Amino acid sequence: MVQSHVPISSEPLSTDRLLETAIAASREAGALLLNYSARGFRVEYKNPINLVTDADRAAEQCLIDHIRNCFPSHRFLAEERGRVEQAPSPYLWIIDPLDGTTNFAHGYPAYCVSIGLEYRGRCILGVIYDPSRDELFTASETCGAQLNDRPIHVSETTSLDNSLLVTGFAYDIRESPRNNLDHFAQFALKAQGLRRTGSAALDLCYVAAGRFDGFWEVRLNPWDMAAGSVIVREAGGRLTDFSGKDLSIYEQEIVASNGHIHEAMLDVLNHPSPGT
Ligand code: IPD
Ligand code: CA
Ligand code: CA
Repeated sequence: MVQSHVPISSEPLSTDRLLETAIAASREAGALLLNYSARGFRVEYKNPINLVTDADRAAEQCLIDHIRNCFPSHRFLAEERGRVEQAPSPYLWIIDPLDGTTNFAHGYPAYCVSIGLEYRGRCILGVIYDPSRDELFTASETCGAQLNDRPIHVSETTSLDNSLLVTGFAYDIRESPRNNLDHFAQFALKAQGLRRTGSAALDLCYVAAGRFDGFWEVRLNPWDMAAGSVIVREAGGRLTDFSGKDLSIYEQEIVASNGHIHEAMLDVLNHPSPGT
């Protein structure tokens, strides 16, 4: 029988306890992913370029079991199974068990476990674990943002000319007119450099750590952004949609930056150059 370690109540729980639980769960799921990577996994296709593996599903089960064991009344929104409602609870864990599945399936070590937590609709903590590099990114409203327990901060870069930017493409790139190729072409000509890493959650962590100066993407899901958005916010970054409105992780559009280059990024996103 599942044991409850915390009394069921609508009172806010201690952030330390929530964070400790998310960290332990992310490390357990990260170890599981490395194990699958070493021993092999099965691949299925959600569409011709959208993969899912048994490692994604096993990591998700591991995370939900771990968190539910500590907080049995909490709700979940997880990529592979959607919403799991236990009962009305102000807490909603938003989980991507493996962000960067295509990388993982090809043996390219750029993937992570991503765990965000909403309390009454506000994202209050984020934990992202990259098991290949043993890098743990954490943030909460009370503790700021850290990488392996050391505080992190966004970069000081003030111009696109000096910026290293990052983006990604959705799995419907072949069908959707909003495929991001126009914006990719424009930023390629305006930034110092442009990357596509294949893990939106790590892209956000790298903005928070000052490794990238800015990130944008369309058609993302809440589980791609929940944890990373808290980490960027607590590292001093700015998060909006393409119009400059505060980010909603439910509205698919994101611009995350060090703040200094944010308006310049919005300008490019809203004023396509002719011919691109
Ligand atoms: C994907 C990655 C990728 C982004 C895609 C996401 P997944 O998530 O974050 O970087 O460009 O839009 O769907 O499928 O690897 O969890
Ligand atoms: Ca994802
Ligand atoms: Ca995923």
